[in-house]
Amino acid sequence: MEIKGSERLKQLPVYLFDALDAMKAEEQAKGVDVIDLSVGDPDRPTPKYIVDALKQAADDPKNHHYPSFKGIPAYRKAVAGWYKSNFNVELNPDNEVLLCIGSKRGVSDLPMALVNPGDVVLVPDPCYTAYLPGILFAGGEVHFMPLKEENDFLPDLDAIPEDIRRRAKLMLLNFPGNPTAALAPLSYFEKVVAFAKQYDIVVSHDAPYSEAVYDGNRQPSFLETPGAKEVGIEFHSLSKVFNMSGWRVAHAVGNKDVLACLAKVRSNADMGAFQPIQHAAITALTGTMDFTRETTQAYQRRRDVLVNGLNELGWNMRKPLATFFIWTPVPEKGVLSGDFAERVLRKSGVLITPGRGFGEGGEGFIRIALTVEEDVCGQVVERLKNAGFVYK
Ligand SMILES: Cc1ncc(COP(=O)(O)O)c(C=O)c1O
Repeated sequence: MEIKGSERLKQLPVYLFDALDAMKAEEQAKGVDVIDLSVGDPDRPTPKYIVDALKQAADDPKNHHYPSFKGIPAYRKAVAGWYKSNFNVELNPDNEVLLCIGSKRGVSDLPMALVNPGDVVLVPDPCYTAYLPGILFAGGEVHFMPLKEENDFLPDLDAIPEDIRRRAKLMLLNFPGNPTAALAPLSYFEKVVAFAKQYDIVVSHDAPYSEAVYDGNRQPSFLETPGAKEVGIEFHSLSKVFNMSGWRVAHAVGNKDVLACLAKVRSNADMGAFQPIQHAAITALTGTMDFTRETTQAYQRRRDVLVNGLNELGWNMRKPLATFFIWTPVPEKGVLSGDFAERVLRKSGVLITPGRGFGEGGEGFIRIALTVEEDVCGQVVERLKNAGFVYK
């Protein structure tokens, strides 16, 4: 029997990182020791005190059953407490916090919950790759909001045509931004809230990197903005700032009606996260943020080694203020990001991500993840220098 995927499935591109993995495997098969700077996956382990909390909870048979899909009450309370102490945002744990099995799952399910066929979804370009499939599956129409360097990589709301505004149901935002590493000030969020109210658009702000911010900067929560809870929600995740990417635990917080719609999709599709994982996450959220602060400092030092080192080779890069990513123009004029990234891999064994993988608006840029230790960042600079990627 010939198995054919659905028409919907045909609309999906090959997942960017699958294609990069294939190129990496080819080089490794030739014996190359590839340094992988492509994925935003924290390289250091989850802190021991969080792993210990998991072990303890796993020993308790009470935790061996189907977990509540919306998160156990203690988890939702811990999230509300964390939002209060980090952002001074009040959340009702009963209906303004919803557990997600990773924020990737949450952001990709949201369009199913809100978008009717033909509704417009406003999406940043470039953006995190997981935003598009959910919109396509829901039959939504994507309107891209270009992220331009001259606008500090903030979507220009004034540039959205009037007819699109009227047909839009949902706007996706993400700060600190992946891949752009941009921050958004509260004043920008205020404009977003006014725009959303005027045109009845739900706002979904994706904020998994909210604490990975450098040089004394700060990324406010979208929910700090007056009126934000009337129009939207925010996703936050333990993946990045607690080094828990493999644990699959995150949450959506904010507007209770939006969350109720999302919860309906979630509860029909699967159960919640394994309860011991929720207990470990409670330990993370209710503990000190020392671990996160130290890890952020380590990323900042890595950033400095890479940016300073590559700038000495003439790359002319700006230092990112947040995230684990350097987002920088391809240092060779007119060269496509995919061609450049492939040449970097083949000639130096360093894997970086072509900006085009994040959308048309990412063409001309590359993304370099800061997910190797400082000494390896130094080796990356050496390898690129020796392979001739020098522009001075
Ligand atoms: C902007 C953005 N949102 C969401 C995610 C997914 O995070 P999680 O591990 O919570 O699914 C990522 C991961 O790379 C991301 O960069």
